[in-house]
Amino acid sequence: MDAPSGCAWPPTPDFDSWPVEHLPVEAATDGRIVTVTWDDGRVSRYHAIWLRDNAAEPQTHSPVTREQVGHPWDLPEDLAAASAGVAEGGNVQVTFAPEGLTVAYHPGWLRTLDYSNGPRDDLGNIAPTCWDAGSLEAPPAFDGTAYLEDDGTLLAALEALKEFGIVRLRDVPTDEMAVQRVAERIGTIRNSNFGFLFDVRTAPMESRKSADSNAYFSGALAPHTDLATREYEPGLQLLHCLVNTTRGGQAIYVDGFAVADHIRRTDTALWRAITGIEWTFTNRSPATDYRWRAPLVVLDDAGNPREIRATTFLRGPLNVDSGDVEAAYAGLRAFQTLAAGDRFRMTFDYAPGDLIVFDNRRILHGRTAFDDASGERALKGCYMEREEVLSRIRVLRRAIRATSAI
Ligand SMILES: [Fe+2]
Repeated sequence: MDAPSGCAWPPTPDFDSWPVEHLPVEAATDGRIVTVTWDDGRVSRYHAIWLRDNAAEPQTHSPVTREQVGHPWDLPEDLAAASAGVAEGGNVQVTFAPEGLTVAYHPGWLRTLDYSNGPRDDLGNIAPTCWDAGSLEAPPAFDGTAYLEDDGTLLAALEALKEFGIVRLRDVPTDEMAVQRVAERIGTIRNSNFGFLFDVRTAPMESRKSADSNAYFSGALAPHTDLATREYEPGLQLLHCLVNTTRGGQAIYVDGFAVADHIRRTDTALWRAITGIEWTFTNRSPATDYRWRAPLVVLDDAGNPREIRATTFLRGPLNVDSGDVEAAYAGLRAFQTLAAGDRFRMTFDYAPGDLIVFDNRRILHGRTAFDDASGERALKGCYMEREEVLSRIRVLRRAIRATSAI
């Protein structure tokens, strides 16, 4: 809905877009609460202190940065909404006492942030859809060029990534820097001791004498997450296939949330073991000594899996109560056996130009062994954080809303 001619919607204390779908028809106040009645009958209640704290005016928010420059603890203790009304055009106007300051509120912003009618998700999270080999035979696929050049394709890919934890870009140019360009369409790359970008490639036997990861050999890699040795396990990993002429080396991807959920539904003792007993993860290196303790499956406040910690080849000696040792191993065996089994494991061959983006705290990855004498194999990768994906999704959605907003 556009602002009436000759009018403009008031500023908001952010850079977001707030489509106006409903207009206020009445606003009143008892001093402490401003009550707004909307054209669809909804009644919203806003506290005077909340409205004053979120006023988009220069004493409270910088008009340049939109960050707060005024603080609620500096406001008068007897702050009240002295009057409230609906101005011509549909803005809600509130005059505060004892300041005498009048602030106009954007109706789209005010309606969306109506906290009085139930909790709302102001993070814009996308709920995961768990999958197994039967329900998702291959990652959702997107054309690499379209991903790089078209924001609509980028948004669709990132939404699929949040839902399924994995997407495959096809036909991405096979130059060494392409993975960085793909990553930076989302946000900032996370550096690590394996490098800003890292290579997983067949290498001369001589150079393998100083290899710092099993990945640099040609053996099979059991499904795992990377860097559980860190307090903050990377939220995202990108792997770009530049060349693959070797025999073997099939890609393996597994939804760790689905494996965890299966165990939760089928075996209470194993569930307690994988969510309650901490393993110590330690990297092996002459130069670094990263360590972290965590259970295999870390739960969120609602009791659902938040992250999988399964860098199983970087486990330190188990160091827990004696009574938990066998349960810990039983939990690990159950989880990894399910992850490697046909029910949960997605497999496919990497083709040059394939670029897999996956949630490293949810999706386990691995490979079958390959014959490194049979050809060349080169993957280039990097890490990022989950929050980069969510930030990009929000900004892309903001741009879409702006075209339908006022
Ligand atoms: Fe890995």
